[in-house]
Amino acid sequence: MSVLSGRVITLAVDRGEPSAALAILDWLERAAGDRGLADLHLSADTSEAEWIRQNGYSLDEARRSAVPPGLVPMHKTLAGSGTDRPWHIRSARPEDCGGICAAHIESIKALCAPHYRPEHIEAWLEGKTPALYAPLLAKYRWFVAEESGRILGFGTLDAADAAAGQGEIHGLYFSPRGAGRGVGLAMMRRLESIAIELGVRTLKVNGTTNAAPFYAKFGFVTIARTTHRTRSGVELPSVAMVKQLDA
Ligand SMILES: CC(C)(COP(=O)(O)OP(=O)(O)OC[C@H]1O[C@@H](n2cnc3c(N)ncnc32)[C@H](O)[C@@H]1OP(=O)(O)O)[C@@H](O)C(=O)NCCC(=O)NCCS
Repeated sequence: MSVLSGRVITLAVDRGEPSAALAILDWLERAAGDRGLADLHLSADTSEAEWIRQNGYSLDEARRSAVPPGLVPMHKTLAGSGTDRPWHIRSARPEDCGGICAAHIESIKALCAPHYRPEHIEAWLEGKTPALYAPLLAKYRWFVAEESGRILGFGTLDAADAAAGQGEIHGLYFSPRGAGRGVGLAMMRRLESIAIELGVRTLKVNGTTNAAPFYAKFGFVTIARTTHRTRSGVELPSVAMVKQLDA
């Protein structure tokens, strides 16, 4: 298969406007995909490489000698070109709160409800509005899976203790439209690779009972049957699991 490549020549945005940078990068990727490009290259400033990585780019070792010192060669395989995926994963933006909230509610109602009691589901959904997610977006690392402008679901990493080698998957939810299509697998890979880059060695999750076999597939082991406390104080059965990323 021949791979058509494109290159981002310049992307410069005011440092106070990270969502503008994301919007522009997103637009460039869509434009590249529309033109049949399967691979997008860029040379990132060292200080921006982490941000670029979080948006799905990986180190392009083959081009290392071709870029000037101080720049990091990176590339991304574009969703929908070279693969048959109509969706892609990207960092969440403040304007995603509505879509994240809707996917979260749909996921709980459709995919978790068969495994929990009605009163659990009611307590779980209580107070879930887009506004709830805005402060959480700033607190954790959020990624969304998007298809045709619609948010299929999200994955969240708590990396506050990454320097001590500790990280936690804080949420991983897909709407019925998104589930069962390999999006969860891609999101887990993204969360784990970001965790590794940040220095996390022990990745925890306090997962839903229905998702425990999914996490087990990825090498998470159960530590305890426990609970997750909702904002209204209801204890939802959950499964505490852990995975050693450096094993
Ligand atoms: C659990 C969840 C995140 C999985 O995401 P997904 O996009 O449906 O998963 P994928 O389609 O990528 O599946 C990847 C693999 O895991 C398997 N899998 C998916 N969900 C599973 C489950 N609940 N139990 C066991 N295996 C599961 C798939 O069969 C697939 O295996 P394969 O590669 O051998 O075919 C998703 O179903 C979901 O949102 N569930 C409801 C919300 C929830 O409980 N989230 C966990 C919160 S901590």
